[in-house]
Amino acid sequence: MNDFQFYPTPRSLAERAWAKFQNSEFVRVLEPSAGHGDLAKAAPRDYYRWRRDIPVDCIEIDLDKHPVLREEGFKVVGVDFLKFSAGAHYSHIIMNPPFAQGAAHVLKAWDILWDGEVVAIINAETVRNPFCRDRQRLVSLIEKHGEVEFIEGAFSTPEAERQADVDVALVYLRKEADASELADAVLEDLIRDRTSGEETP
Ligand SMILES: C[S@@+](CC[C@H](N)C(=O)[O-])C[C@H]1O[C@@H](n2cnc3c(N)ncnc32)[C@H](O)[C@@H]1O
Repeated sequence: MNDFQFYPTPRSLAERAWAKFQNSEFVRVLEPSAGHGDLAKAAPRDYYRWRRDIPVDCIEIDLDKHPVLREEGFKVVGVDFLKFSAGAHYSHIIMNPPFAQGAAHVLKAWDILWDGEVVAIINAETVRNPFCRDRQRLVSLIEKHGEVEFIEGAFSTPEAERQADVDVALVYLRKEADASELADAVLEDLIRDRTSGEETP
């Protein structure tokens, strides 16, 4: 068996995770460690007045799981999330990454997002025991931009397809676009355009 740490999210925990989002304008959602889509499938149904499902894109490192995700109707947009960079157009990221790499995955989600929200189910230890730089950065992001709820035994209930004796941290982060970054980028483009225009005979 591979060591991708496949623990499907139990339905009640998945619904609790979706309920953490504060912005209900789901433009496009990313599930970057999607497994068989258990978390993605718990997206609120009939959310829009015109009854369109929330659009969820999936990434999953285990290629054997891709056919299942496609059969469920999800678009698979990547394999290894830690090497993924095209995240700026997502309005929401929801995730239950491998427990051993929780901080790295949440930080990656934060870094690729332009303006949006992240909800992550991670091992509570990742937040409670911030011994490394990644964990410290995550704790600091939670303090500045979000909140965390601890849940005991979320993967030990009979509902869990694969049981694990862990407490989880349900992390919520809100990232707001940095308008000054945008202004700098526009200015750089203008300068580049002007310079290359001057070079054109
Ligand atoms: C704890 S399971 C959760 C599955 C699914 N998110 C759910 O909630 O049911 C973690 C999943 O992440 C996948 N995974 C591990 N490392 C990954 C990576 N670097 N990029 C994308 N997926 C990864 C594993 O194969 C596994 O399916």
